[in-house]
Amino acid sequence: MRIPFIAGNWKMFKTIHEAVVFTKELRSTLKDVADVEIVIAPPFTAIHAVAEASRNTNIGVAAQDMHWEREGAFTGEVSPAMIQEAGAAYAIIGHSERRRLFGETDATVNRKMMAAFLAGLTPIVCVGETLEERERGETLAVLDRQVKDGFDRLAAEQVAELVVAYEPVWAIGTGRNASSAQAGEAHAHIRNRLRQWFGADAADRCHVIYGGSVKPDNIRELILEPDVDGALVGGASLDVASFAEIVTRSRTAAV
Ligand code: 13P
Repeated sequence: MRIPFIAGNWKMFKTIHEAVVFTKELRSTLKDVADVEIVIAPPFTAIHAVAEASRNTNIGVAAQDMHWEREGAFTGEVSPAMIQEAGAAYAIIGHSERRRLFGETDATVNRKMMAAFLAGLTPIVCVGETLEERERGETLAVLDRQVKDGFDRLAAEQVAELVVAYEPVWAIGTGRNASSAQAGEAHAHIRNRLRQWFGADAADRCHVIYGGSVKPDNIRELILEPDVDGALVGGASLDVASFAEIVTRSRTAAV
């Protein structure tokens, strides 16, 4: 009942021109794929151009971050309404790079989630433990804290719509993906907590996707885990052929 959700997080890569060239090529490569939700997250500067190039296609657009206020004296920030009007339907919130390098906390994640829903954006909210936390045996406790505090005051109906990305920090950009067993355990844990805190319907409908060194050659084993509903892809989403292959291999019927 949950169709695979594959998103490409470009991080700080691609100018407007490069982004449009990519989108046009992706659009024609994947034009017949109807059974995967496909999203790309360009830098703010390219959102509008990518949204135009993917208009009326099966490709959606996400921002990589946003502020929680509607407007104000917040130099350098971009509001939910601004990215929505630029053509994004999704916003990545709480990526570990923003938590680690730019002071994002579970409290700011929570404010951003509420603001995203108010603006009609679907949050793609990132959670995941560091290597030290995993080695200390704290993985599930960290996920509990991030979900409990980050999702505070959300309605069950909102949780049903959102996308949770489990991204173990040690697997991001390292070439070392979580094994399917490690991902399976974390995803099942997250879904159990969603069931406990927001009810069975929300837990069953919410997409829980995996991120961290996803490539064409490991997507299949990851997506076969019952609670892995897709992927948030960094490096391998920058190349049309590899991103398209990840999308194609995530299809339920793929072999
Ligand atoms: P990589 O796929 O490059 O490991 O990045 C994962 C990620 O951070 C996606 O948001």
